[in-house]
Amino acid sequence: MITKAPGGNAGLIARDLSVLWHPCTQMHDHESLPPVPVASAEGAWLTDFDGRRYFDGISSWWTCLFGHRHPAIVEAIGAQLGRLDHVLLAGFSHEPAVALAERLLAMAPPGLSRVFYADNGSSAVEVALKMSVHAWRNRGQKRSRFVALTGGYHGETLGALSVTDLGLYREPYRPLLVEPLWANSPDAYQAEPGESAAQVAARRLDELDALLGRHAGEVAAVIVEPLVQCAGGMRMHHPDWLAGLRRLCDRHEVHLIADEIAVGFGRTGTLFACEQAAITPDFLCLSKGITGGFLPLAAVLTTATVYEAFYDHWRSGKAFLHSHSYTGNPIACAAALASCALFDDGTVLARIDALGRQLGAALEPLRGHPNVADVRRTGLIAAVEVVADAGSRRPFPPQERRGRRLHAHALAHGVLLRPLGDVVYFMPPYCSTEAEIDAMVAVAAGGIETMVA
Ligand SMILES: Cc1ncc(COP(=O)(O)O)c(C=O)c1O
Repeated sequence: MITKAPGGNAGLIARDLSVLWHPCTQMHDHESLPPVPVASAEGAWLTDFDGRRYFDGISSWWTCLFGHRHPAIVEAIGAQLGRLDHVLLAGFSHEPAVALAERLLAMAPPGLSRVFYADNGSSAVEVALKMSVHAWRNRGQKRSRFVALTGGYHGETLGALSVTDLGLYREPYRPLLVEPLWANSPDAYQAEPGESAAQVAARRLDELDALLGRHAGEVAAVIVEPLVQCAGGMRMHHPDWLAGLRRLCDRHEVHLIADEIAVGFGRTGTLFACEQAAITPDFLCLSKGITGGFLPLAAVLTTATVYEAFYDHWRSGKAFLHSHSYTGNPIACAAALASCALFDDGTVLARIDALGRQLGAALEPLRGHPNVADVRRTGLIAAVEVVADAGSRRPFPPQERRGRRLHAHALAHGVLLRPLGDVVYFMPPYCSTEAEIDAMVAVAAGGIETMVA
């Protein structure tokens, strides 16, 4: 059922452009490519006000894990609405917040025992960064530096942006940011000629070891996106590197913050990416898919050791005085509980594995393309690195913005894809069918031709 707006797409676009300021957008771009007004959504599909349908190839910014309007989550939200809408979480509690914390701790890698809620990914990262510094301080150590990875992305509030390596996003605010210590990404795509992925990873760990050694006593935490650095271009690394990173953090006694905001809840083929390296971070940041894409919510899971560093009489001044008004909102927690429950029957991870393989196989023919430098995949995330020349890996000049051509081509063919620069990536919902995956890749392959033409 499509809710028709007076004037269809054109009517809503006109209203939109006279009042809205869209996120992550140069509004001038809408003169050539207006925003797509979405009237309704179901499963993996969005429908606009003219009745055109779009396959959501990126799960609406990686949030709608099970597709749109999954009936179990819709029902859970409805039931919660009939009981409790919202209550502050300071000095008050409610069942969905407690039940979700219990569930998240049961699902997460072993050794995490406390849950602190926030309401978006960037805020979760802020919480983890602040908690880490504050935990050290409460133990009498003044540590105020973070180690961040090149190509990493952790959000756009000032703390999260500080540990984010996206020049365009960072540059205007540089004077306001806390400069981290930068370590090179273990991304295998960065290999020297003849170097294996394992060799790159080992080299990167040696560099990091030396960096942590040089800054002993200064570093509070290393922050990482486990297995896939998403917004930085879907750069992927081997779980062994992650295991090595955990060992280094232990050896140098610094916290490890695992930002699984994009990769958590099955996206990499396991419930959490950290599982593939058999590690437990000191902080696990979750958001995006946590509610199945229905409502904003975030959670930071941490250890008893961190929690105990704050637990004292009020006079000690050790409390973690951080809050957001909608922290642990009951309706969002109810949605998250319903979304987590969808993993219970044990079929979802198998489905992700099957869809991932299908995606990988569909992309395989692109490997030999003269403008494709790399095709990579982890679980149900895949990326195609489009360049001017595959042999030398020479990129197109960024100002040519060729990725936009693919975006426009895909929309014209009923698919939502949104390349990161010239990296064309896919993160379809878990409810996708094999045929939909193939059709999406076929559209992307046509789009790549428009990019390189
Ligand atoms: C790994 C990672 N961390 C943090 C964030 C920030 O989340 P939010 O956009 O909800 O602030 C994102 C968003 O893309 C992300 O991918």
